[in-house]
Amino acid sequence: MGYSNQFFSAIGINTKKDLAFFSKKSFIPIERLKYYNDFNLVPSGQDLTKIVSILNITNIELKIRMGRLDAEIAHLLQNNIDQLSDILDKSKTPLQKESRKLQAKFKTRLGKLYQADCLDFLQTIESDSIDLVFADPPFNLNKLYPSKIDDQIKAEKYIQWSEQWLYECIRVLAPGGALFIWNLPKWNTILSNYIGNYLNFRNWIGVDIKYSLPIQGRLYPSHYSLLYFVKGDKPKVFHPDRLPMQTCPKCVSELKNYGGYKNKMNPNGISLTDVWLDIPPVRHAKHKRRIGSNELSLKLLDRIIEMASDEGDLILDPFGGSGTTYMAAELKKRRWIGCEVGPVGDIIDRFSLKDEERELLKRYRGGINSLFPIDVRKKRETFGLWTCETL
Ligand SMILES: C[S@@+](CC[C@H](N)C(=O)[O-])C[C@H]1O[C@@H](n2cnc3c(N)ncnc32)[C@H](O)[C@@H]1O
Repeated sequence: MGYSNQFFSAIGINTKKDLAFFSKKSFIPIERLKYYNDFNLVPSGQDLTKIVSILNITNIELKIRMGRLDAEIAHLLQNNIDQLSDILDKSKTPLQKESRKLQAKFKTRLGKLYQADCLDFLQTIESDSIDLVFADPPFNLNKLYPSKIDDQIKAEKYIQWSEQWLYECIRVLAPGGALFIWNLPKWNTILSNYIGNYLNFRNWIGVDIKYSLPIQGRLYPSHYSLLYFVKGDKPKVFHPDRLPMQTCPKCVSELKNYGGYKNKMNPNGISLTDVWLDIPPVRHAKHKRRIGSNELSLKLLDRIIEMASDEGDLILDPFGGSGTTYMAAELKKRRWIGCEVGPVGDIIDRFSLKDEERELLKRYRGGINSLFPIDVRKKRETFGLWTCETL
């Protein structure tokens, strides 16, 4: 299935016969026309000249027909808004859906879980009421979720849908609140652009977890993108954890050479950067909370929640999955709210394993916010290596 169909629609190709005809007329090979269509890419060079002259349209018109709205088009619209307002008045504004009252499927003292489509659910939330939003939507990679949602739709549909739920997440975010979006770089480059219309960009965090097998002729995809935006010029809360110095697992000597700077190192650890190398994938069956993939590590949510919220704050996740965000929020004494369109039994069951999860979280947190975790420090002392205490 093609990734998109906007280019063919823009140039009036509806059938294989149309395609063959256009290719013959333009001398552009069918394969290349298909490539523009599959990736919805605006042709350039001679291909562009040929296409616009056959259609007798301008480059700008082609881009608009393809839905590729760049700065040139934005400028044009800005300068002609008086003429456009007539059309805009007549165009249909989507009717605000009647917001149904939803019944929570599960409650704790701190949180509420709904079984619902995120768009219905988000409409029930008050504007400016959420302190932190974390969203890990389906990636449109044709995965099979327990909810059996269609995870292989046209790119333009996926982006349109993403903008809808993102708009709602942005609406409900409180001033100073933080929005984190977990996705593949391919989608987050596009979504980042959209979110940037409303919120203040803070970071693109690269989280090093291999997410697919190597593909010939491509770089091995090794990081997920975690977008971090805030509402307003600065975050209400920002206390990132500090990480331990990387040491050799066997001889505990430092892996990087800090040279003459070691006595300037903060004993609480190294500043968090926008590249996270220490987030484990959830592969081990013992730690999996539901069958299938797409479950995030508690460690990831712990770090995000710690960085951008305080105890008592309200956290929203509109794509519940196995409930990692809700569990992390609960253990960290934050209030939480969320929904999942598919079965929610696995999330509810997960809360009966709260003590196990608490232990896991304790283990993660024991290894951070000090330059050397206790076990490493003890080993370094035995091996006669420097520690913060000996400097
Ligand atoms: C990538 S998973 C989230 C995994 C979660 N972060 C975790 O760690 O377990 C995405 C989830 O979103 C759910 N989903 C898909 N479309 C949805 C929609 N329209 N509304 C609510 N949930 C949806 C899927 O069923 C799937 O469980």
